[in-house]
Amino acid sequence: MNQVLIFDTTLRDGEQSPGATMTPAEKLRMAHQLDALGVDVIEAGFPISSPDNFLGVQQIAAEVRRPVIAALARSSDLDIDRAARALERAERGRIHVFIATSDIHLAHKLCITREACLERAVAAVERARRYCEDVEFSAEDATRTDVGFLCQVMEAAIAAGASTVNIPDTVGYTHPAEYRAIMDTLFSRVKGIERAVVSVHCHNDLGLAVANTLAAVEGGARQVECTINGIGERAGNAALEEFVMALRVRGDSYPFHTGINTGEIYRASQLLTHLTGIHPQPNKAIVGKNAFAHEAGIHQDGVIKNPLTYEIMTPQMVGVPSNALVLGKHSGRAALGQRFRELGYELDADGLDRAYGFFKLLCDRKKTVLDEDLIAILHHGNIEDAPQRFHLRELYVVCGTRRSEARVRIGDDGRECEAAGEGDGPLAASFAALEGLVPFRVELQELEVHSATPGGDAVGEVSLRVRVDGKELTGTAASTDVVDAGVRAYLNALNKAAQIHALEAKALEDSSYLWGV
Ligand code: KIV
Ligand code: ZN
Repeated sequence: MNQVLIFDTTLRDGEQSPGATMTPAEKLRMAHQLDALGVDVIEAGFPISSPDNFLGVQQIAAEVRRPVIAALARSSDLDIDRAARALERAERGRIHVFIATSDIHLAHKLCITREACLERAVAAVERARRYCEDVEFSAEDATRTDVGFLCQVMEAAIAAGASTVNIPDTVGYTHPAEYRAIMDTLFSRVKGIERAVVSVHCHNDLGLAVANTLAAVEGGARQVECTINGIGERAGNAALEEFVMALRVRGDSYPFHTGINTGEIYRASQLLTHLTGIHPQPNKAIVGKNAFAHEAGIHQDGVIKNPLTYEIMTPQMVGVPSNALVLGKHSGRAALGQRFRELGYELDADGLDRAYGFFKLLCDRKKTVLDEDLIAILHHGNIEDAPQRFHLRELYVVCGTRRSEARVRIGDDGRECEAAGEGDGPLAASFAALEGLVPFRVELQELEVHSATPGGDAVGEVSLRVRVDGKELTGTAASTDVVDAGVRAYLNALNKAAQIHALEAKALEDSSYLWGV
């Protein structure tokens, strides 16, 4: 069988990237896009870790029907029961249990013997099997585990009922030849391995995640765990788009296929960028801003004569829209709807009305409206990712070479309130004013401004990361005025904080579970 299953863990391992926290509604939006992309499995979260993580898995399980929905659990009864509960409404649910198997983790983290580890792995798989047929077992830090013990654990997990066994390179330590050798050993020594799908899960600490993944697939692995834009713990996970396009472009060397609709890759990458505020670096393969840009004259000359001279794949293959000049002041709703459709976004009547309102405002401020502007409109303000408790009503800023002053009026659950603030620059002054209006302690951690399109009148996208009462949250917004976008991004993060507070209060009220990992 040459089909390789794609297990997307953007919403679980990916969300563990610093600053990539998403609300349950944002995760649901991303899950629908992953469904459109054609992934086989969506790892939706780690339900025991927090009430909003639980809710995220629960909502995805209830609404996203085609892919398998997986939930992560440590090898403990409480974790497994919680994962099973979150998956109750899934069409096809999977419990993914894991335990570390390397001596270094056993001795220093879990403080247990290899025998106890083996027992816990088997007990976890057996417990998960009571809830569902589809159980995945992962040996955390597998690539630094004694290979004889790894074989023993895998054999026991398969005998206990695991239908997928995963060999994670948790700390991104292995290299292609070594990983391939581990696969060869497992396939030759583990009894019953033909009854399970062998999975790979690579981290990118040495920049080898995709190379290692390809080596493991050559060695017989048939499930690949990866994330959009390669986000994930530390240096990230293997990037879905890089692995999938390596198979597509180099099918001569890698005769494997996936169910991925590559034309949806760019849309998935953009959506994740907008939701998390984490932009892929410009030279990132496949989805970076420069991935298809030819700068050197000699390259441009070649591409004009024949694209094959310098292009191994076309932007269209991954769904990058052409940077065409599109609509203007006199364009109507139907033309806007049609252009969104051409870009691959189907809007309902309400969505189109909202987008049209933003589009008209944009036309007043900007001479030409490009595809990227339209996508920015769509992602910022057209879809609500958290209930909108706080709304910006008015912003007035005075700035110059001396300290800046701002006055901000917001709506808070229907109530209007206003405050003034001072700071070093217009954004700092606006944030100082906002702090006086909201019931949270907010610390700004990071703020980035990106322009969606070239030119002085470009739409500016502001992404920021704040710590609200100890929790890291991101906010994003777009406007032709970066101060306005900054304030809206700040409120976007605070609306998420308000939702998380409400969820936590509710969970505390009606549950006896202990949360946290
Ligand atoms: O990197 C890792 O080991 C993991 C496991 C939980 C699969 O993410
Ligand atoms: Zn991982």
